[in-house]
Amino acid sequence: AAGDVEKGKEIAAGICAGCHNADGNSTIPIYPILAGQEPGYTAKQLHDFKAAAGETAARDNMIMAPMVATLSESDIENLAAYYSQQKPQPGIVGDASLIEEGKRLYQGGNLENFIPACSSCHSPNGQGIPPHYPRIDGQHAAYTLSQLQAFRLGTRKNDTNSAMQMIVSRMSEQEMKAVSEYITTL
Ligand code: HEM
Ligand code: HEM
Repeated sequence: AAGDVEKGKEIAAGICAGCHNADGNSTIPIYPILAGQEPGYTAKQLHDFKAAAGETAARDNMIMAPMVATLSESDIENLAAYYSQQKPQPGIVGDASLIEEGKRLYQGGNLENFIPACSSCHSPNGQGIPPHYPRIDGQHAAYTLSQLQAFRLGTRKNDTNSAMQMIVSRMSEQEMKAVSEYITTL
């Protein structure tokens, strides 16, 4: 069911804006930009932050867990619809000197270590391939890096077919940093 944008806007203003800003364009680079994201992906993330009794959430994060705890199914749909309608603003680059190196990896992967090109799932312009592959273009570099590290640590294990977990297990810290910087420029 398509969410109600106006209802989503209200919840966002009340609970989420403190970190993600009212329109989902967070200006603090550890908080992701949510504006313009595919609603199905956003809704999936909100579900994945929830843990069943006695279990660890597929996306185990102590900041987001309490945020989603009280959200109903329709709240989730409404929030996802609201953010998908907002216009994304450019994210914040951390270290611009790594952008060129990151671009090579994003577009061509690294054959030596069996790292596929990120563009094959997230598309050459980073806008993703709905519904499973999220857009990642323009995201804050610090947030993107934190997610690559979370997939590696296993605190985030909500990716379809473990694609991301497999890929990051073959990446160096330097590669993860570089590709995160490039993604911000997309
Ligand atoms: C991540 C939504 C409140 C901090 C996310 C993501 C979504 C989201 C969809 C994942 C984005 C992605 O995968 O690209 C919301 C909603 C909120 C809310 C709907 C209100 C109900 C907050 C608040 C804070 C916060 C108040 C700060 C206290 C974070 C952080 C992450 C995150 C740190 C990254 C988590 C991780 O590393 O897995 N949020 N958020 N959020 N949000 Fe929120
Ligand atoms: C999610 C980066 C390659 C499939 C993500 C996210 C990032 C990312 C940062 C999380 C987005 C967010 O939290 O907003 C990258 C990079 C790649 C790469 C840097 C190249 C080194 C791939 C490839 C595939 C893939 C080749 C497919 C085989 C996915 C999927 C998700 C995802 C399915 C969503 C997981 C979920 O539902 O939570 N990727 N990706 N990625 N990526 Fe990639």
